[in-house]
Amino acid sequence: MNNLNSGGLSVYTKSTGDALIPTPERTDGVIKSHIEKLTSENSSVWTSPEHNRREYVHSFFQYPAMMVPLVQKKIIDIIKQANPQIKNVIDPFMGSATSLVACMQNGLNCFGQDINPLSLLIGETRTGPYYVNAIKKKTIDLLNKIEEDTSNEVVIKFEGFSKWFKPNVAVELSKIVRAIRQEPRLAIRRFYWVNLAETIRLTSNDRTSTFKLHARSKEEIEARNPSPIKQFKVHLVKSCEDLEAYRDLLLEEDQLSKGAYKGTVNLSLQDSSEKIITPENKHNFFDLLVTSPPYGDNKTTVTYGQHSYLPLQWIDLADIDKKANQDFLKTTMEIDSRSLGGKVRRLSTEEIQFLSSKSVTFRSTYLKLLSTTPNRVNKVLAFFKDLFSVIDRLFDVMKPNSYQVWTIGNRNVGGIEIPNNQILKEFITSSGGILVTQVEREILNKRMPKSNNNSALMNFEDILIFRKIG
Ligand SMILES: C[S@@+](CC[C@H](N)C(=O)[O-])C[C@H]1O[C@@H](n2cnc3c(N)ncnc32)[C@H](O)[C@@H]1O
Repeated sequence: MNNLNSGGLSVYTKSTGDALIPTPERTDGVIKSHIEKLTSENSSVWTSPEHNRREYVHSFFQYPAMMVPLVQKKIIDIIKQANPQIKNVIDPFMGSATSLVACMQNGLNCFGQDINPLSLLIGETRTGPYYVNAIKKKTIDLLNKIEEDTSNEVVIKFEGFSKWFKPNVAVELSKIVRAIRQEPRLAIRRFYWVNLAETIRLTSNDRTSTFKLHARSKEEIEARNPSPIKQFKVHLVKSCEDLEAYRDLLLEEDQLSKGAYKGTVNLSLQDSSEKIITPENKHNFFDLLVTSPPYGDNKTTVTYGQHSYLPLQWIDLADIDKKANQDFLKTTMEIDSRSLGGKVRRLSTEEIQFLSSKSVTFRSTYLKLLSTTPNRVNKVLAFFKDLFSVIDRLFDVMKPNSYQVWTIGNRNVGGIEIPNNQILKEFITSSGGILVTQVEREILNKRMPKSNNNSALMNFEDILIFRKIG
């Protein structure tokens, strides 16, 4: 008999050990009671579990709105214990791939997609291979190459370049780029590119206090004298330690073979509202979904694309993916425009009616906005239309009785709260899912205005667990 018993919660009868048939409803019950038990034992378990911020290679690059790996891992463990048949997982809004690294200890085959090439690069690096010893050896050589490079040539040019990079910063970044390009192994180059991305975030003239591209003041730029080479070295040491720690964790769990993850890792640069990629376009393929979607269109919530714009200018895009090209960098807004809700247009009456039939809360929110903030209606509607399209596609590729874990928060538009959590619930239940359970968590350290700003995000988010009815 499989041991589904954890913390006294089991789909089997306690007194006799006789097996009950583990129906989906019973499995739901086990998940629900296990989560309730953890919440009652420690009310902050989902907000701030005790953890080391560098664990799970979480500090390679400061990607916006990263999930807390340990929170996701606790939930994944509970679902996997309740249903040991789970073999694979998809995150259609992968970001920095937190959900996937949280699943790797459980040996799941990992599938992720995102519209942002920088997300893909971070995911490719966090999920391995973990050639720590080779990287350590090669890094000495890389740093020597950088030191010996006497050229003052700047390798990158784009419109507005001098606004973002001081001349000496550009010269030092160019030396790093030239040295990285000489590294023959792609996996190792990718590791260096991510470290370069974080170096650029910290040494460009862009403010680090916001995700939007926003140059520092003239005085501040003049007074600052960052050295990308020094920064790069410091960050490389830290990243190497973190990579080693995560490799050791996976080794302990017997998840590695010759430094690479034993399971599948399949990451794609892909608009999830257009397609969810599965091997040979299979339907009913995924056992589990763990994700956190954007909470509104990127431009007015979190500008993932703008945040990635400067680092991506310096990275050889072909090293990320064959689909990554300069078109993604046409303007500072390009990636955000391609993202959920980025292409604003007036929805037809039929489209609005369709979405209203899927969610009454969508309908009431639309009517409220129409009467109070009509100029923002199209943006909000475009976002929900795209979000529904992703959900619809997901239901096609998720297996019957598979679980979905969504982390989502609400936001304000013109003083009106947009109940993303409720609309998502209704979209998913009307597509054939049921809500198994949910937990609320406070968002700590959020780098967005908490005040009653027009588009401010809220201070809480929900983790919603659904099952696709089989
Ligand atoms: C909340 S973030 C995910 C953060 C992630 N959970 C982490 O821990 O880093 C949402 C992600 O959705 C991506 N995204 C937005 N629109 C998308 C689309 N249409 N298709 C795929 N990804 C999209 C953004 O680029 C961003 O990386």
